[in-house]
Amino acid sequence: MLPAGVLVCGGPEVITRHFALLCALQPVRVEADGMVCAPRSAPEAAGPALAACPLPWRALSEVPAWPDPPAAMVAGWYRRSPAHAAAPEGVRELIQTPGEGFGPADHATTAMCLEQLEHLPAADAVDVGCGSGLLCQAWVALGRGRVLACDLDGRAVDQTARSLAAAGREDRVTMRRGPVAALRAEELGGRVLLANVPLPAHESLLSRIGRPPRAVVLSGLRPGQAAAVVVAYRALGLEIVAEDERGGFRAVSMVAA
Ligand SMILES: C[S@@+](CC[C@H](N)C(=O)[O-])C[C@H]1O[C@@H](n2cnc3c(N)ncnc32)[C@H](O)[C@@H]1O
Repeated sequence: MLPAGVLVCGGPEVITRHFALLCALQPVRVEADGMVCAPRSAPEAAGPALAACPLPWRALSEVPAWPDPPAAMVAGWYRRSPAHAAAPEGVRELIQTPGEGFGPADHATTAMCLEQLEHLPAADAVDVGCGSGLLCQAWVALGRGRVLACDLDGRAVDQTARSLAAAGREDRVTMRRGPVAALRAEELGGRVLLANVPLPAHESLLSRIGRPPRAVVLSGLRPGQAAAVVVAYRALGLEIVAEDERGGFRAVSMVAA
């Protein structure tokens, strides 16, 4: 039976070194002799992680409060709730509050987009269909520029806003509830478009573009849907710099030549 509370023993340096494996144990705080975790809050991830734990650990009689949503390492980011332990020095983190916006970070489309951000140039961005807001938060955390984030789902806008505030990054993002069709051409030209949306939203976005964007990351597309969207951005002068396929979806990044 998975213990409710666990202390993973080790000093800060050793905890940091193994953090990518340890975060599945759901760390809630770091103490002088190790890291306190609440593994039962995410048993599917924490069970295997405890079995493979590279450091000594002991069960605690104390039951830590359950952090929610569960933390995970995704695309090199520690995605955590506000109730989890903060990332150790040198580990990049994204904060996700509880909510109903799309975007459990381990969804294949979100993960592929996060991975491909490194291929995109710095510029102000538009997070088209922001869901729970992980892409706009990552863009700001990387110091790439400001973001206009929109979604037609009010629950997504609310979760993105709360998550950005919890991360202290809300001042770099303008939130808007509304459809892609309400974006104006001048809001898209020269920007980086973070567009993990279904095909109809991509088509709507393309119909709004006047001056070409600086770059795009495109996902939410099935493999058979992506080619036509890529052709449309090629016609705007963008070239592919990264592409991937996972979980039945495609992700493509393109940059103005
Ligand atoms: C696949 S989710 C991606 C969420 C987030 N960007 C991510 O990568 O985790 C797509 C999001 O786009 C939103 N969406 C879909 N069609 C839209 C449209 N026409 N206008 C605005 N938002 C839309 C959905 O509400 C959903 O939150």
